[in-house]
Amino acid sequence: MNQQMMKELAGQRAVEALVKSGMKLGLGTGSTAIPAVRHIGALMAAGKLKDIKAAPTSFQTVIECEKWGIPLFSLNSKEIGGKLDLTIDGADEVDGQNRCVKGGGGALLLEKIIAYASAAYAIVVDETKLNDTLGLKFPIPVEVVPEARLPAQAALEALGAEALLREAVRKAGPVITEHGNLLLDCRFKTPIDAAAFETEINRIPGVVENGLFTRLRPVVFIAHADGTVEERR
Ligand code: 5RP
Repeated sequence: MNQQMMKELAGQRAVEALVKSGMKLGLGTGSTAIPAVRHIGALMAAGKLKDIKAAPTSFQTVIECEKWGIPLFSLNSKEIGGKLDLTIDGADEVDGQNRCVKGGGGALLLEKIIAYASAAYAIVVDETKLNDTLGLKFPIPVEVVPEARLPAQAALEALGAEALLREAVRKAGPVITEHGNLLLDCRFKTPIDAAAFETEINRIPGVVENGLFTRLRPVVFIAHADGTVEERR
């Protein structure tokens, strides 16, 4: 099974296992979360899921939900009321304690707000995302307001990171997030205390949020190349 097949399998399996009619759902971003969104759309179209209300984590998710007719609401809407039953999202790295790095798709801010507003949280990944130590292989994205670019970069480097401004593809200059900010991708040379760093990085003036997700204990659906899906709690 290739990587895209694994991603689709993980997303679909999480939906089959966890999504029920009437739920308020947070829907994630990326090439593993989107197949889960599509599967929800297909189940709704077949009449097997009803009365779903969704809070999207990015424009990508909005567009996919619109294609499938999945009703969308802001997290602050009367219909959602700031609380979700379940969020399904992807991740860039997952460690043995189900802690994650997210934000490879640049959507970490809304992804974190929505994840922390959810009673249940599911992460869908293929086996290549598993890693014992966070922050060494896949850089931890840090969203900063544009005016804080250089001082935040210096503060992150003082914490031991190599902090690189994320450059856009097919647009000159940096990536501008959906909230008008910049991203500094932080790679560490030695292992970090991920839980402490999730808090510590956010203490830097101008940092809006970072891509460490350590305070949630998601159920992780891991698709393997042999076609099996492991459910890790
Ligand atoms: C977007 C994310 C994604 O969930 C993460 O980057 C994983 O993406 P993919 O499933 O495409 O590998 O955090 O901000």
